[in-house]
Amino acid sequence: MIIKPRTRGFICLTSHPEGTLQNIKNQIDYVKSKGKIKNGPKKVLVIGASTGFGIASRITAAFGSDAATIGVFFEKPAAEGKPGTAGWYNSAAFEKEAHASGLYAKSINGDAFSDEIKKQTIDLIKKDLGQIDLVVYSLASPRRTHPKTGVNYASVLKPIGQPFTNKTVDFHTGVVSDITINPVDNDEDIQNTIAVMGGEDWKFWMEDLKEAGVLAEGVKTVAYSYIGPELTYPIYRNGTIGKAKDDLEATVTTINKLLKDLNGISYVSVNKALVTQSSSAIPVVPLYISLLYKVMKQKGIHEGCIEQMQRLFAESLYSGEKISLDEKGRIRIDDLEMREDVQKEVAALWEQATTENLEAISDIEGYRNDFFNLFGFNFEEIDYDKDTNELVNVDSIQ
Ligand code: NAI
Repeated sequence: MIIKPRTRGFICLTSHPEGTLQNIKNQIDYVKSKGKIKNGPKKVLVIGASTGFGIASRITAAFGSDAATIGVFFEKPAAEGKPGTAGWYNSAAFEKEAHASGLYAKSINGDAFSDEIKKQTIDLIKKDLGQIDLVVYSLASPRRTHPKTGVNYASVLKPIGQPFTNKTVDFHTGVVSDITINPVDNDEDIQNTIAVMGGEDWKFWMEDLKEAGVLAEGVKTVAYSYIGPELTYPIYRNGTIGKAKDDLEATVTTINKLLKDLNGISYVSVNKALVTQSSSAIPVVPLYISLLYKVMKQKGIHEGCIEQMQRLFAESLYSGEKISLDEKGRIRIDDLEMREDVQKEVAALWEQATTENLEAISDIEGYRNDFFNLFGFNFEEIDYDKDTNELVNVDSIQ
């Protein structure tokens, strides 16, 4: 079928299998160009492995460190006349490239929050890998069914305490407008968001993996967080999602205790703001990202997910040196985003940004391009007027 982008708000309803393959190949090429990571991980589980930071982590482990990888994700396969989701095609492309390079790669498609998927994953590790030495936790989800109680939780993206008014952009049209987001009016929304995006599920995974004996001596685990600038604090770090991130970050202490007798360790890495399916859903953030991209590209310090993950693995997690942490014990690969000169320039542009000057003062074009790239569109190597086979399978999923 011929597949063109079909968008609804911040969602793209279609994905292109050849374009996503191109996207994965570009990321693999980048990791290869950086050379092998000395003493990198060898047997890796990535939870949330199909898009954004998760697929970039998987690519870095596989192609930067020759690691065997198991990826867990929740994606829709293709059906006749109906393209699969981008994460489905990404995973198909990843496995194809990994297998062609002689690397072990298998995937599990299902709800990572459930006990059943945890069990399936553990069985697969036992059967094929024995033990794993790195667990990457990169889930981003709007809802979670609790595996023990069956309660369904939905997360909300809201400020706490007072309404938040600021600029936002519709990145398709470039219209900059003011938006007011009302605060949560009950504690339940905060607790629900923590239940979805906080640390409990990460802890459940680590407990189950440990109990099954599939964690190797010296195992590492890492989950991802975000802080960002003051101007997004009300909607992000001081909002409902920020409470969930506080909870995720606090889980490090619990997991460290759990892993102590294995000499294992857990980290949270604070990553840079980037265009992913999750971040495009947060009001205000797309305008910030398009201004940030402009400033960071001008300074020659822009990074995407793959550059961030390659740096995290090579220069932090597996650098062989003492890992540098902030005062709260977090890895900070958002260091370039948070540099004083960068933030000062972004803040000045923020004051000026209007619909009229947006194309000139921001990198809204780069934002859009990254957004369409997520779904395999806007790659010059691909002829989008040509018929393509939408029925692409992930090798290991029958
Ligand atoms: P994403 O939306 O690109 O990826 C989410 C992944 O989770 C996908 O692989 C998806 O299949 C998987 N997933 C969602 N629900 C699932 C379920 N029930 N079962 C199994 N898999 C499921 O998100 P992104 O942006 O890569 O986020 C990953 C982590 O990085 C999150 O913790 C996020 O907060 C964090 N982060 C994101 C930043 C950004 O700017 N995008 C910045 C800093 C941190």
